[in-house]
Amino acid sequence: MPSETKLLITIDGPAGAGKTTVSRLLAARLGYRHIDTGALYRAVALAARERGIAAEDDAGLDRMLSCLAIAFSPAPAEGRVRVTLDGRDVTEAIRTPEISLLSSAISARPVVRAGLLALQRELGRGGGAVFEGRDMGTVVFPEADLKFFLTADEDARARRRFAELRGAGAGIALEEVLADLQRRDRQDAERAVAPLRAAEDAIRIDSTGLTLEEVVAAMLAAVRSRLAGLRSG
Ligand code: DC
Repeated sequence: MPSETKLLITIDGPAGAGKTTVSRLLAARLGYRHIDTGALYRAVALAARERGIAAEDDAGLDRMLSCLAIAFSPAPAEGRVRVTLDGRDVTEAIRTPEISLLSSAISARPVVRAGLLALQRELGRGGGAVFEGRDMGTVVFPEADLKFFLTADEDARARRRFAELRGAGAGIALEEVLADLQRRDRQDAERAVAPLRAAEDAIRIDSTGLTLEEVVAAMLAAVRSRLAGLRSG
């Protein structure tokens, strides 16, 4: 769907709702960039763990953030983007269950959210991007052209995460995945700063009974209607 107008699109929602797959597909269809902001929090968590900085050590996190270089580099052959931390490829290292939990704890620290805000807004310049995260439509890009909030019931989300982790070779039980997910959901939704919630003007999509292709089709329909709205007025 090529178009002159380059929208900035946000997709927020809880872990396992299908955000990453859907964002990647939507961005590919539109010829937009896909920015996975969870990867930024995960990279910060990995860096903190490697340096022995605790999730509660705001001063240490602040110091670390001021000299940390996190970047995305396109890997077109793989159909995705790789993540680097100070030039080192950490794409796989940030996906372990341990880093998932630590990134959730670290993302509750205002100092970390503030540290990543400017970087995210910089990445959004010029539009033509699909940003996925927890607070894209509420805090980082309140003026986004189009916002989605993607959910699914807890069991469906745990099963998706389980399949992903199994696919990556992790030996983990479904019950463990569900327990981690519930813990993360609670932490992400109950934190004081930028908690997970839908923006008032977000389009809500429940992916429980849908294939991810069907979700993307619904989003593309919304993109078309937004573009038509912009053209007519
Ligand atoms: O989307 P994800 O599971 O890769 O995100 C990892 C953690 O980072 C998640 O538990 C919440 C946090 N996060 C956040 O607080 N804000 C974002 N915009 C993206 C992720």
